Amino acid sequence: MTQPATAATSPSRPPTLAGVRHCLAVASGKGGVGKSTVAANLAMALHHSGLRVGLLDADIYGPSVPLMFGLNTVDPQRTPLPLEKYGLRLMSMGFLVSPEQAVIWRGPKVAQAVQAFLAQIDWGELDVLVIDLPPGTGDAQLTLSQSAPLTGAVIVTTPGEVSLIDARKGVKMFREVRVPILGIVENMSYFVDDTGKRTSIFGTGGGLKLALETGVPFLGELPIDPRVSECVDGGEPIVRRYPDSPVAQAYATIAQTIWQTLQSRQAETLPQVQL
Ligand SMILES: Nc1ncnc2c1ncn2[C@@H]1O[C@H](COP(=O)(O)OP(=O)(O)OP(=O)(O)O)[C@@H](O)[C@H]1O
Ligand SMILES: [Mg+2]
Repeated sequence: MTQPATAATSPSRPPTLAGVRHCLAVASGKGGVGKSTVAANLAMALHHSGLRVGLLDADIYGPSVPLMFGLNTVDPQRTPLPLEKYGLRLMSMGFLVSPEQAVIWRGPKVAQAVQAFLAQIDWGELDVLVIDLPPGTGDAQLTLSQSAPLTGAVIVTTPGEVSLIDARKGVKMFREVRVPILGIVENMSYFVDDTGKRTSIFGTGGGLKLALETGVPFLGELPIDPRVSECVDGGEPIVRRYPDSPVAQAYATIAQTIWQTLQSRQAETLPQVQL
């Protein structure tokens, strides 16, 4: 079993990205729990509430943003200006290199690529930059957690015990690098059939359990909906494609809570004005 990588010497936070008010990482220890889907839909939901939002796909080996937003062209000459779609500013390593090229990069080269990539992107003015982290708690995740000026992280898990084991590692990693964990989102919590019957397919209560165990807020549950995958294939996140669906409504609530938390954190760090 791989252990979470250890934080490098200095846990101090890096300077903020010019023009970006909040950087929010979406992470989990385990692969396939829906991080990229959550990152994309959370970004859309934040944008729908009137904010200027960017989405950085930091998964070098398995980028998702090109597919999820129907932007499947690789151009190594691309300038570090994000692409615009549905009102979001998007950047992915997948716009620059194909996953086949990326797999030959290993260890320090990945860390360097991620750092260089981050430093070059000109996001303009953003209220929130959502960062979709690759699965795991290894070097790439750790480098990103330390080199991006993260305001906070959201941990995604599915309700079952196997996913929780890895999500715990994610919580530990962010604590080591002193990034506040804003909350836990449980994805694929239940399925509601045509008769309205609710079935828990991947277990129950894992997200809440992890939240209680770690003292991190529980942000909410996202139901299983086959339209989520259909929307990935169609290049349009479900929050935009089916805004009235229960999944989209759940995202809207979670996005609102996250935004409130980000704002209160900013207020806490502002200098106190003496009256
Ligand atoms: N709530 C949901 N209902 C139905 N399908 C979902 C839901 N959330 C995610 N999926 C589907 O699950 C699959 C995995 O999702 P996703 O790619 O977002 O996971 P990930 O954690 O980013 O994976 P990786 O670890 O490979 O980066 C995708 O096919 C996605 O469409
Ligand atoms: Mg992903």
